[in-house]
Amino acid sequence: METFGCQMNVVDSERIADMLTQIGYLPTADAEQADLVLLNTCSIRDKAERKVYGHLGSFKPLKEKKRDLIVCVGGCVAQQEGERLLEKVPHLDIVFGTHNLHKLPEMVRLVEQKKGRFQETQFLDQETRLQLFPQRRDSDAITRFVTIMQGCDNFCSYCIVPHVRGREISRPSREIVQEVIELAAEGVREITLIGQNVNSYGNRVEGEISFAQLLELVADIDGIERIRFTTSHPKDISDELIACFGRIEKICHHIHLPVQSGSDRILQQMNRGYTRPLYLDRVAKLRAVCPDIRITTDIIVGFPGETEDDFIETLSLVEAVGYADAFTFLYSARPGTSAADLKDDFSADVKQRRFDRLLALQQENSRQIWAQDVGSVLSVLVEGESRQGSGQLYGRTTWNRVVNFTGSDNLIGETVSVKIIKNNRNTQLGERVSKNN
Ligand code: SAH
Ligand code: SF4
Ligand code: F3S
Repeated sequence: METFGCQMNVVDSERIADMLTQIGYLPTADAEQADLVLLNTCSIRDKAERKVYGHLGSFKPLKEKKRDLIVCVGGCVAQQEGERLLEKVPHLDIVFGTHNLHKLPEMVRLVEQKKGRFQETQFLDQETRLQLFPQRRDSDAITRFVTIMQGCDNFCSYCIVPHVRGREISRPSREIVQEVIELAAEGVREITLIGQNVNSYGNRVEGEISFAQLLELVADIDGIERIRFTTSHPKDISDELIACFGRIEKICHHIHLPVQSGSDRILQQMNRGYTRPLYLDRVAKLRAVCPDIRITTDIIVGFPGETEDDFIETLSLVEAVGYADAFTFLYSARPGTSAADLKDDFSADVKQRRFDRLLALQQENSRQIWAQDVGSVLSVLVEGESRQGSGQLYGRTTWNRVVNFTGSDNLIGETVSVKIIKNNRNTQLGERVSKNN
């Protein structure tokens, strides 16, 4: 199984793995060995989507060698393409959409019995979806994602998510709290509450609490030491929520706050629902309640009609905020979104040059921010042994940076003091400071 895209797919893949285990399939890293291969896909950009076709192509020789191999595609490309995928890819057996994970075991059984090829991409009603929310899976991880919402109602003009994930739905707070209690009892120390737009949690449900209140409840759970959440939408980040960063100690001092563009004109065309001044006001308030907060963002370069002036506004906003990191993307027209109808005629060359300029600026900003940590002693929640092998541990700081350092595995799950020695590209190297010195 291979998973692409965002946390939603990561959580769905855990659930898929669990369901497949229950019907007798075990994980293998070697595709040659597999009786079933599955891609959990993402269609956020054209490139992501093309990757799926590339990958599927690579399964063709496997299927020719092993006629019984079952080839499955799930996730957002499956949702978007449905039947077309079966038509285009003859060696594909199963296509299941984002609301149809639960159908997978039954479909696999039917394919095993040579009953044909199958696709399920129906969107479900809200009530059924509530019953099918991804549940806690057993694991010995220290950090876990907890899904609190699914879907999205924002319809940013460039974005495929509302089309492939369906309408926004909030999971009942009592279920979320119950899940976190169980996770804490299993040894989980950090949770990340996930949804496409967590700031609007509960807004559409009568009698449901707000996201800030949910944070409060989760923070009261013994055993949970750290709380993160993603993704936040700038238009919905309330004063009440901002205040939580000052009031609730367990909330990590990091927020991912996608801005997309620094130009009001482009923001409006993107249907983002906020202006540059409003965004900057939110950032200022966050910093006022939590002075050492680090902010990361997403930015799209080359939205249809973006002028040089618009782009310069993005650069100046990036300067003004001082992001710790930014994920920058070249605009990619997605079928069915409203921006796909906009005239998009400026040269790929200009787009690429803008992209490179933004990247260079951000890389320098990032370098300066992370360089501040060298020599500091920071709290690191130890998550496990690092890939470098035994005796090497990794964990993260409150700012969500991975730190690698030497230590024994009985520290896993503990919060330890680590002196930062140097910065690598996306990680830091540290040295444990023992309690005695
Ligand atoms: N729900 C989140 C993120 C969704 S997708 C949010 O609202 O921020 C992650 C990022 O992909 C987006 O923030 C955006 O920067 C980028 N993205 C989405 N659609 C895109 C497109 N059509 N072309 C380029 N980048 C896109
Ligand atoms: Fe896409 Fe906008 Fe929803 Fe994020 S808020 S998932 S960018 S439509
Ligand atoms: Fe991609 Fe679907 Fe997530 S399009 S970003 S996997 S919701």
